[in-house]
Amino acid sequence: MASLLDRKLLVVTGKGGVGKTTITAALGLLAAGRGLRTIMVEVGDQRRLPALLGVPSEAEHGVEVELGNGLWSLTIDPDRVLHRWLSKLGGRVSARVLGSSSTFQYFVAAAPGAREMLSLVELWDLSQEQRGRRGAGYDLVILDAPATGHALAMLRSPRTFAAIARVGPLAGQARKLQKLLEDPARCGYLAVALGTELAVTETIELQQALRDELARDLDATLLNGALPQRFDGEELAQIEAVGADGEGAGTNGEAALLATALRAARAVHERGRTQQNQIARLRRQRSGEQASARVLSVPFIFQPELGLADVEQIADLLGRKL
Ligand SMILES: Nc1ncnc2c1ncn2[C@@H]1O[C@H](COP(=O)(O)OP(=O)(O)O)[C@@H](O)[C@H]1O
Ligand SMILES: [Mg+2]
Repeated sequence: MASLLDRKLLVVTGKGGVGKTTITAALGLLAAGRGLRTIMVEVGDQRRLPALLGVPSEAEHGVEVELGNGLWSLTIDPDRVLHRWLSKLGGRVSARVLGSSSTFQYFVAAAPGAREMLSLVELWDLSQEQRGRRGAGYDLVILDAPATGHALAMLRSPRTFAAIARVGPLAGQARKLQKLLEDPARCGYLAVALGTELAVTETIELQQALRDELARDLDATLLNGALPQRFDGEELAQIEAVGADGEGAGTNGEAALLATALRAARAVHERGRTQQNQIARLRRQRSGEQASARVLSVPFIFQPELGLADVEQIADLLGRKL
């Protein structure tokens, strides 16, 4: 993974709720811990990273928040990015026309992908050394991408846009971004998935879309929330046997308790087995591909709500595996 953190941009993708933000935070800690000036970027309404890392922040969209030890976070809202860009056109078009929502909607419809592409331009700017008064560029930008469909719209936008605007500054930027997204030395892709059939299917589809549209492969898939395999075959047989004859249960209350515990043990075991099958399915997909492509599991952390210490634990683990 050393090589993965050497890129300029890491895109963390996956279905909603699979742990993208958590993994982004862990990768951020890991990269910053290795001395890289790192910024993690959330998109749209998402603004969870500072609090997750124990730095509550009221920062506005578009404002970089320093979290300490070489780590920053930022939320960008594609609508606001487009508004700002339109208002910078200024001069030629009156503020009243630009400010109206119908102009905005018209522009969105006329230039599909503009919002997404301008958001990517903002990411690109973060990594540039010359950022004017905003200081030196970041070594690494980690994008906590929106859920799969929106993430693909974002990754597709430079090409869409280049096809619409053949000349002019935006066309130039679209080409530059397309090169960045296609370049394995500068841009990496991670998928986060849960070990369910649906989530794994979506990951496989995402991988296909990356191939079709950017000729890229996922650099790694992180299977999040992996359950421990607590019981071996013999222990399971014993559990089943106790379950069958209620042996060892004295009173009715104890019998009920025992039955519940056994059901829970079997359920956890079954879920773990489903996950193992899904990991095997992902690995089959990967076989025959580049050696760096990996499936790594991140354990389920038994906490009501994850905090800094839990994210640090995931960061340590990724650091050892990557
Ligand atoms: N490895 C894990 N173990 C336990 N809970 C986790 C783990 N990873 C994520 N979670 C929890 O799952 C929920 C969704 O995670 P989040 O990172 O917000 O997902 P996403 O950004 O993909 O929507 C959160 O409540 C988070 O605390
Ligand atoms: Mg999230």
